[in-house]
Amino acid sequence: MHSLCMWILLGTTILLPTMILYKKMRSKGRSSSTHDSKNKYGNSSMPLGSLGWPLIGETIEFISCAYSDRPESFMDKRRLMYGKVFKSHIFGSPTIVSTDAEVSRCILQSDAKTFVPSYPKSLTELMGKSSILLLNGSLQRRIHGLIGAFLKSPHLKAQITYDMENYVQEAMNSWTEDNPVYIQDQTKHIAFQVLVKALINLDPGEEMEFLKKQFQEFMAGLMSLPINVPGSRLYRSLQASKLAKKRVAKLILKIIQEKKNRKMVQESPRDVIDVLLNDTSEQLNDELISDNMIDLMIPGEDSVPVLMTLAIKYLSDCPLALQQLTEENLKLKREKEKLGEPFTWSDYLSLPFTQNVITETLRMGNIIIGVMRKAMKDVEIKGCIIPKGYCVLTYFRSVHLDDNFYDFPNQFDPWRWQHKDMSSRNFTPFGGGQRLCPGLDLARLEASIFLHHIVTQFRWVAEKDSIINFPTVRLKKRMPIWVKSRKEH
Ligand code: HEM
Repeated sequence: MHSLCMWILLGTTILLPTMILYKKMRSKGRSSSTHDSKNKYGNSSMPLGSLGWPLIGETIEFISCAYSDRPESFMDKRRLMYGKVFKSHIFGSPTIVSTDAEVSRCILQSDAKTFVPSYPKSLTELMGKSSILLLNGSLQRRIHGLIGAFLKSPHLKAQITYDMENYVQEAMNSWTEDNPVYIQDQTKHIAFQVLVKALINLDPGEEMEFLKKQFQEFMAGLMSLPINVPGSRLYRSLQASKLAKKRVAKLILKIIQEKKNRKMVQESPRDVIDVLLNDTSEQLNDELISDNMIDLMIPGEDSVPVLMTLAIKYLSDCPLALQQLTEENLKLKREKEKLGEPFTWSDYLSLPFTQNVITETLRMGNIIIGVMRKAMKDVEIKGCIIPKGYCVLTYFRSVHLDDNFYDFPNQFDPWRWQHKDMSSRNFTPFGGGQRLCPGLDLARLEASIFLHHIVTQFRWVAEKDSIINFPTVRLKKRMPIWVKSRKEH
């Protein structure tokens, strides 16, 4: 899925598909553990590597590394043995893993004739064929373009800035010095409100709470274990997910109807529903729009709060960066107060060090560690042959932590971005090509607003916490901090 959520699910989708695929691969004689012979591609060859154990491939080792604080160790070991692109068998499929920035870039830039997104069957069933996360070709490009343009529009950014300031302030007003503040929970709550506002223009209230509940139920199904037989946990949670998705679709259909009845569909759109309703192509009917709304929530719901939480974690561990960030934000705040002007979205994005902190958090945090694709035909990239039917994992984390590209890569160093090009192929936290994240500006804006308000209103002492990387990135103790208001001290 938004292979993002793929990461939610990686660990959860192994056994059944593994058995089937392994059998197929055996019968094709591709289960040899190393070299594949040269072929019509001249000097090119299939990447070296091992398909591991029958049935489970190398999944167990992958997952045990993924749970450690160095998930990339699975890749590091194989990079040494086989090179930056290697063959493995994970998540139930023979997979070519690319930790090579150039190869990954080619894969992401390819069109749907060559690579398509790849998710386990239970997930694709859950999302439905018309999900933007699964669509390919012209309809995917159309929806992607419409959503991307809207999420980048100055109009939406202004709206989101206004709303987010209120949501952040409301959350921060409830913080006290006597209890720890769990940053992960707080940011999750704030980011969900922002997301729902952008997608559906819904304000906090009963319907928002309903939506949140349904969404949580839907996600629980995505996270379940893979034994999909009637009565099993997966079966039950998949059923619950399907039901939750239906309930959301029903709510969205109701909202669409209301908009149409009251002729409320805005020419200058106020939410993603307006954007899709305004589209004149016949392909985007009400059902497709309502079915897609929950899928559009999946990519943004978890990633943005994790970005904000990780930033607080890294800053708490790096007082010098926290100090510089605070000074930069306090300076702007004083200037704005002097002029008697409110903040605009571009003010929040104008602070270079704050942006560098966010960039460095994205690099180190690897919120989405990579994306999954499936080869639609035999493909040759940089001397590597990827056979038709193979899955491909473009693993960003190894590139983001490669000391050939980043000095002391495990060190949080926002200053490195003062002279570094963010648009290089060695930095792809938002993916690339036709599926480049359309929410990237929104994610940065939200993180900038949150950081501004926390550092200008509070000092804090963070409790010790650690990062868990699997199946999604999160903080083990939900990032508790003890705050003191700046006003009173
Ligand atoms: C820190 C935050 C975020 C990160 C790291 C992130 C990362 C990514 C990545 C890596 C992809 C590419 C997936 C692929 O190629 O298969 C992607 C796609 C996507 N993202 Fe994000 N994302 C973030 C926030 C958001 C937000 C706030 C939204 C807003 C709604 C969003 C909406 C989407 C959508 C709809 C796609 C699918 C695009 C398509 O397949 O055409 N993301 N994101």
